[in-house]
Amino acid sequence: MGPRRVFSGIQPTGDFHVGSYVGALRNWVALQDQFDETIYCVVDLHAMTVPYDPADLRARRHESARMLLAVGVDPDRSLLYYQSEVPQHVELAWILGTLAGLGQLERMTQFKEKADRAKQNLGIFAYPVLQAADILVHKAHAVPVGDDQSQHLELTRDLAHRFNSRFGEEFPLPETITPEIGSRIMSLTDPTAKMSKSDPSPRSRILLKDGPDEISKKVKAAVTDTGSDVVYDWEAKPGVSNLLELFSVFTGRPIPELVDEYSVGGYGVFKGAVADAIVEGLAPVREAYDALDDAEVTEVMARGAGTARDRAETSMKTVRERVGIV
Ligand code: TYM
Repeated sequence: MGPRRVFSGIQPTGDFHVGSYVGALRNWVALQDQFDETIYCVVDLHAMTVPYDPADLRARRHESARMLLAVGVDPDRSLLYYQSEVPQHVELAWILGTLAGLGQLERMTQFKEKADRAKQNLGIFAYPVLQAADILVHKAHAVPVGDDQSQHLELTRDLAHRFNSRFGEEFPLPETITPEIGSRIMSLTDPTAKMSKSDPSPRSRILLKDGPDEISKKVKAAVTDTGSDVVYDWEAKPGVSNLLELFSVFTGRPIPELVDEYSVGGYGVFKGAVADAIVEGLAPVREAYDALDDAEVTEVMARGAGTARDRAETSMKTVRERVGIV
């Protein structure tokens, strides 16, 4: 068996929130110790499928790269680069697109969520195909993501399988890696909706860049449920359950133990402790972010793109041969 590879990507929002951190980025970092190769990508082409300002995108992709280094992506162990600097992603996306059925693409939840026809474009429709290409161009075996990406990963496996059956065994079918706790962190203002960058309310999410005061304010204002019991029950108490997951992840303590300890004392004490845990957990990330040098970030990303292009080109040589364009 050859080297075992991990690939994952994140959109360049610049200000990542704890949902992405807990659902995906923590695993990105941890998997550096568990796989032979870890490859991470700031997917700037994906970010162009919604209206945006070019200067803003330029700033956000740089900030995103800087934040990925701050959370612990180690450029000596991982390949880190901007998607747009490796054109082979788009080339493979075109080829995979010819294997993707319209019906299956129309069923993608993330596409349907943007089903407002006025906002639709070919990029949004083809979005999951480009995502599949990101993963397959590196022949990744595993993809650490949050729960909301499961359907896109299923499509990726389908496309890999279809390609292999039609043109010969080329791509491994990548497995999805989600954390046991925190694969779907919910909004602080509406615990029935996912914590998301696109929520109009900034109070709905905690950013990795937030300082102690902002974190405390947001946790204290978080919607909890009626009553005062701290119980882990997503049906009856989604708000409390969401905070319990964050609490558990940031302390490394099991949920039942936290429930035991905070079952008496009410929501006030509980929220105070949750806020402290998040503040403490994010302090090193903020410090690392502030300490990073812009020139260093730029240099890491340029180096990453060079290596990624070489790797992707090696994959594409065989792919082109297989599909008959060499
Ligand atoms: P993106 O940029 O929206 O989110 C990045 C990662 O964070 C996870 N995530 C969450 N996890 C738990 N709870 C939440 N509330 C939460 N919000 C976000 C996401 O699941 C994701 O893992 N389509 C992808 C980007 C992408 C990609 C790829 C991922 C493009 N190509 C190839 C993996 C492999 C996306 O929009 O993620």
